[in-house]
Amino acid sequence: MAALKKSYYIKSRDFIRAGEASIKIQTLLKSLNFDPQLTRRVAICGYEGEMNVVMHGGDGSLSFAIYPHELIMEISDDGPGIVDIDKAMQTGFSTASDEHREMGFGAGMGLPNMKKNADEIVVDSERGHGTRVRLVFFTGKGGDDG
Ligand SMILES: Nc1ncnc2c1ncn2[C@@H]1O[C@H](COP(=O)(O)OP(=O)(O)OP(=O)(O)O)[C@@H](O)[C@H]1O
Ligand SMILES: [Mg+2]
Repeated sequence: MAALKKSYYIKSRDFIRAGEASIKIQTLLKSLNFDPQLTRRVAICGYEGEMNVVMHGGDGSLSFAIYPHELIMEISDDGPGIVDIDKAMQTGFSTASDEHREMGFGAGMGLPNMKKNADEIVVDSERGHGTRVRLVFFTGKGGDDG
């Protein structure tokens, strides 16, 4: 049973609010005294995931659950999906537009960075049917109730 579940709406192309869900989760984990290193890894993954929904995806959500030995984050959207997931996972691969690149995005580092910072990552996507990224972080024991 999850001790705590949160879910946040992510609006496609909304660069103003992009990243807000990750900040809320980071604040939550800090307040529950989770390991700062773990909290940082979760926040990095959340941020990269949110940015991908905002830039490449459709409207979506970030949901987060705290279990006794792990944290689960799911970022999903109903956008165009990823054509070639293996390619998308490669460092440097990006379909970001010139406009996104001018904003400083499009290095093709987001998914590789998520893979590096999470203990497990599963990317599910079907062309035309959106994308779902599921991340697991092992806590061993976590927070005040661990
Ligand atoms: N939610 C998504 N919907 C559709 N395509 C996606 C989604 N997330 C990632 N992609 C595809 O995978 C590619 C790689 O994503 P990744 O996050 O690694 O790099 P990026 O977003 O292009 O650049 P960066 O994250 O470094 O700013 C994207 O360019 C895009 O083609
Ligand atoms: Mg990205």
